[in-house]
Amino acid sequence: MSESTTAPSKTTAPAQGGAGASGPAMTKRVDMGDAAAPEGVKFEAIDAIREGRTFKPAVHPDLARESAVVEVRDFCLYYGESKALHNITLDVPRGKVTALVGPSGCGKSTLLRSVNRLNDLIPGVRVTGEILIEGQPVFDPSVDVIQLRKRMGMVFQKSNPFPMSIYENVIYPLRIDGENRKRVLDEAVERALRGAALWDEVKNRLKQSGLGLSGGQQQRLCIARAIAAEPEVLLMDEPCSALDPIATLKIEELITEISSRYTVLIVTHNMQQAARVSQYTAFMYLGRLVEYAPTAHIFQNPTLPETEQYVTGRFG
Ligand SMILES: Nc1ncnc2c1ncn2[C@@H]1O[C@H](COP(=O)(O)OP(=O)(O)O)[C@@H](O)[C@H]1O
Ligand SMILES: [Mg+2]
Repeated sequence: MSESTTAPSKTTAPAQGGAGASGPAMTKRVDMGDAAAPEGVKFEAIDAIREGRTFKPAVHPDLARESAVVEVRDFCLYYGESKALHNITLDVPRGKVTALVGPSGCGKSTLLRSVNRLNDLIPGVRVTGEILIEGQPVFDPSVDVIQLRKRMGMVFQKSNPFPMSIYENVIYPLRIDGENRKRVLDEAVERALRGAALWDEVKNRLKQSGLGLSGGQQQRLCIARAIAAEPEVLLMDEPCSALDPIATLKIEELITEISSRYTVLIVTHNMQQAARVSQYTAFMYLGRLVEYAPTAHIFQNPTLPETEQYVTGRFG
């Protein structure tokens, strides 16, 4: 889709400057709970959320034309008594990059961690509804969670190389599977490191510790590890937020590059990054999906005034 790379229009310039996540916000931001409609605009979705009424998220018809790899169906998640996700229904389109955006605390990470059941590790978590990967229910009691997580590579905000060599970091998922054939491992290392745009920088020091790499290299190493097992979906939770602008750009180029082979679901708080790397953007607020559409639509011509106000940095 050519419009995927379209920069946000002037009228909806993103609030965060620069490629990095660290650019100062140009517009004063207020807490998510304080989102207030400007004169003459009505926040019907947000009013409904605040008043506990149900509302229908604005989902663009283009999404119905995509083939879904992950289907989230009326999904709710509770941390103890507190409900963090409210009836989320959303499809993640195959072979595309989908960005999850929304104010801090709106449930982006929770949703991402639900897909590969990382939330299972948190005591007191309860879910209702369904998530399917390739049509198979993720929360079915018969699901082997380890196998499930292998089908979905995950990259976190802070890079987390293991205290072992670059080589062993990359092939870690294969080792877990009991793969020990040197030729298979060597090939996997090269393929994954090339895929993560790191091969040329490290090919002569594969036996050195992964912890000796720069921050940006470490994050690309983690991406290499995430793709080494050829996952069906790559989940990324603010993968650039600890990186400088140059390292960020490199990761963004990498995401664009690997998106031809993988389905990517990426959380970002950087609106320019969402505009640059994704084809679809889902805007969440207070644990709900509010609007979901092609990224160019979200940034240039969103259906809801809430989305427009958020992507232009008026709140959040
Ligand atoms: N481990 C946890 N235990 C209890 N509440 C949590 C936990 N993780 C997140 N939450 C709460 O769930 C809501 C959504 O959080 P999160 O998914 O981290 O949002 P985001 O990634 O959009 O910033 C927040 O209110 C947060 O405080
Ligand atoms: Mg988060």
